[in-house]
Amino acid sequence: MIDRSAIERIIDAAEIVEVIQEFVTLRKRGVNYMGLCPFHNEKTPSFSVSASKGIYKCFGCGKGGNVVNFIMEHERLSYPEALKFLAKKYNIEVVEKELTAEEIQQQNERESLLIVSSFAQKHFTGTLFNNMEGIAVGLSYFKERGYRQEIIKKFQLGFCLDQKDDFTKEALKSGYKRDYLVKTGLTIQRENYHFDRFSGRVIFPIHSLSGQVIGFGGRTLKSDPKTGKYVNSPESDIYHKSTVLYGIYFAKKKIVEEDKCFLVEGYTDVLSLFQSGFENIVSSSGTALTPEQIRLIKRFTNNVTIVFDGDEAGIKASLRGIDLILAEGLNVKIVVLPSGEDPDSYSKKLSSSGLKQFFSDNEQDFIRFKTRLLVSSTKNDDPVQRANLIRDVVKSIAVIPESITRSVYTKECSNLLLIEEQVLYSEINKIRRKKAEQNYRKLKYYEEQNLRKIPEKQTPLLTESTEFQEREIIRLLLNYGNLEFRSPNAKKDKEETIVSVAEFIVNEIINDELELDNPVYRQIFEEIHQQTNSNNHLNERYFINHPDENIRTLSADLLSLSYDLSKIWKKHESYVEPEDMKLKEIIPETLIAFKNKKIMQAIRETQDLLRSAQEKKKQDDIEILQERFIILNRLKKKLAKDLGDRIIL
Ligand code: CTP
Ligand code: MN
Repeated sequence: MIDRSAIERIIDAAEIVEVIQEFVTLRKRGVNYMGLCPFHNEKTPSFSVSASKGIYKCFGCGKGGNVVNFIMEHERLSYPEALKFLAKKYNIEVVEKELTAEEIQQQNERESLLIVSSFAQKHFTGTLFNNMEGIAVGLSYFKERGYRQEIIKKFQLGFCLDQKDDFTKEALKSGYKRDYLVKTGLTIQRENYHFDRFSGRVIFPIHSLSGQVIGFGGRTLKSDPKTGKYVNSPESDIYHKSTVLYGIYFAKKKIVEEDKCFLVEGYTDVLSLFQSGFENIVSSSGTALTPEQIRLIKRFTNNVTIVFDGDEAGIKASLRGIDLILAEGLNVKIVVLPSGEDPDSYSKKLSSSGLKQFFSDNEQDFIRFKTRLLVSSTKNDDPVQRANLIRDVVKSIAVIPESITRSVYTKECSNLLLIEEQVLYSEINKIRRKKAEQNYRKLKYYEEQNLRKIPEKQTPLLTESTEFQEREIIRLLLNYGNLEFRSPNAKKDKEETIVSVAEFIVNEIINDELELDNPVYRQIFEEIHQQTNSNNHLNERYFINHPDENIRTLSADLLSLSYDLSKIWKKHESYVEPEDMKLKEIIPETLIAFKNKKIMQAIRETQDLLRSAQEKKKQDDIEILQERFIILNRLKKKLAKDLGDRIIL
């Protein structure tokens, strides 16, 4: 348990822009920061962060909240986990008692797997630096390969002793549950015995975007061809190979700075190039890049340079995968190393500056590269081969989302392939039309699925729902509660009563003995009511950091700057005027609309009661209800008139 005061200290210390910037590239736009939303796939930024309000909001997918919500959502952590995450970042001490073996078991599973992984990393690193065998075998291996101490430390490399279960024994002794050792794959369990997955291997921990150890790669030091060169952690709740990029945690800052990401094949390539000064480097760990990995890169840059070993077979095999990268709208460049070299070996032959020079001299645009490669390996006089070649190049161009980029490539490839631009265009368009059709069908399918769901949720009396007005009321309270408000009734009362917006709204609703229907809005309203009663200044941060998750999310949502303009406001078409200038009109209109709907509700209820009273022939009730019915209708007319007079259509 984290106590309330610690929570407050954490929330006060956590600078939302600084925290989010670790995960998303943010650019300043006016008073806010904008970036590509990390929660859904998008090509133009609709994710906004307000430093002053301490909230984020995506206008694309609707996700929003305070800094704790962001960490919860992004790192898939629970509320206390997210707080601890932030506490760690800002060096805030969170006093929690030492965990007993039993409590370790009780931790939720994901957290436990992370804890076990972190323990394993420390154990392996400890072995590498402090154990005689670790030093003699593991550390000296890394040193022989030319890795300097600081890089070994930074990437938290390690060594697992060449024994049956050195790690597993240690972990069990320290109270870690066997189940988690098995689930992370660190321990392999057979019926009557267990052993370390990584024994006798040097260890490359794999870090999440936020630097937590989520998996491992282990390289054998034996030359026995029967032992696989690498063994990796299996898929688990914390490690999904297809969504991770090796090195991203260490590279992300530089990727943003350089606006470019280098992509290599393996762990050792990342280490070698990093050591040579290419810190914006990640690896897909030997497999073709997945869409998730591409999106991960895309959060930080639009420019990817893929570094290929100097063998043609490997390159040709990778070409298809690169179309995926193009389709995400990234600019792809290629560097091919001299024959027989990989980034690891080549970085040892050249100085840092020599390597930089080589990269900048040899970087080529992917489509140009692919076209040339295919042209050079195709017999130009074979019409079938030629047709295949053209189709292949066209496929790559067709996936590029940007039309200008597409046309630049089309022009260039028409020259390289000696074929008319128009022919290429018509092929490209054919592919794009087909794709668009598929997408449309998919969209239609989802729409139909959704339409089927809606009737369950809809209440028959949607027209009477005050949902929209209640939301408006809360939005106005949260955004403008402390502003001065000159009551429109003031003139009649002679004295000039100037109240706050909050006081005005609260009084209007309380005096009419009305209640908000939505429980979340109602609670916020109640709390504001109490604050105004005790003459407290309304504190929006209080709601943004409210203990109730629903209130946190909602208030962050409503406090976001570019919140959809209210419908009433739209009718005025006064977009140029800031909303607070219009409060005099918006507030009474919202209240009238709210009351109007409330009256409609009451009228229907009265009608229902009247009907049943008539059925039961209860004369007294009938008379009372009829009277109420008349009064309500009168009120309704009056409100309708007020509402009608106000709205300038
Ligand atoms: N890989 C793997 N499992 C294997 C082989 C390879 O996961 N059995 C992944 C590793 O991430 C490895 C990458 O593919 O880093 C590239 O493989 P390779 O080029 O064979 O290894 P290197 O990283 O170059 O290792 P070394 O230089 O030590 O041979
Ligand atoms: Mn290698």
